[in-house]
Amino acid sequence: MKKLRIEEVSKCFGKGENKVIVIDNVSFEVEQGAFVTILGPSGSGKTTLLRCICGIEDVDKGKIFIGNTEITTMNEEKRKKYRRENIGIVFQQYSLLPILNVQENILLPLKFNRMKLDAEYYNKIVALLGIDKKLKEKITSLSGGQQQRVAIARALITKPMLICADEPTGNLDQGNSREVIHLFQEIRSQFGTTIVMITHDENIAKQSDYTIRIQDGKIMKE
Ligand SMILES: Nc1ncnc2c1ncn2[C@@H]1O[C@H](COP(=O)(O)OP(=O)(O)OP(=O)(O)O)[C@@H](O)[C@H]1O
Ligand SMILES: [Mg+2]
Repeated sequence: MKKLRIEEVSKCFGKGENKVIVIDNVSFEVEQGAFVTILGPSGSGKTTLLRCICGIEDVDKGKIFIGNTEITTMNEEKRKKYRRENIGIVFQQYSLLPILNVQENILLPLKFNRMKLDAEYYNKIVALLGIDKKLKEKITSLSGGQQQRVAIARALITKPMLICADEPTGNLDQGNSREVIHLFQEIRSQFGTTIVMITHDENIAKQSDYTIRIQDGKIMKE
């Protein structure tokens, strides 16, 4: 069985007396297809941990395996390629491109990876996310919640084996938030996708298979 495995990972920012340990010897592993939530106070290191898992940040110590692939030995270029091909990321700040319209933003990962569009799948996710009437619109004309849903669609479009989502329902009302969780659940059962999601919502955490609670960069024992 493929696993996501985090082994004794540490990450600091700054140097000398400004050095801050943000992730402090974190280890955990989850089965492929698991739905994991990460909870913790603001500033506890959740985003940093997620960025290490997707290989955006280099770790200072420790190993991260996605299935049999160790991403922590890869150089930045390799990690970037691996990430594009295998991981769907929903950033806390969305990171959409304002010069492209909604549809172009969602389809961009396919272009990067020279992958074919599965039109049926695309139509389904944009409809489920309630952005099917917005596809030709400019990103800047959308509300925060709508932008968040575009970012989610973009993360899902390549049918990645791992989805890393940073508070993907943070700007959504309860109904939309429920829809998004539903969609993630459905994608996971259909494709066996592992989902790692940061949230502040205990109700969402309850629906996940594992909850990782983090404080000051350390995992709290349940
Ligand atoms: N690039 C960076 N350079 C220096 N410090 C950083 C950097 N990124 C994060 N930090 C620091 O690391 C700590 C953890 O930040 P992080 O963004 O991981 O927290 P978080 O748990 O995601 O918080 P929030 O719930 O507010 O999103 C914070 O003190 C932050 O200031
Ligand atoms: Mg964060």
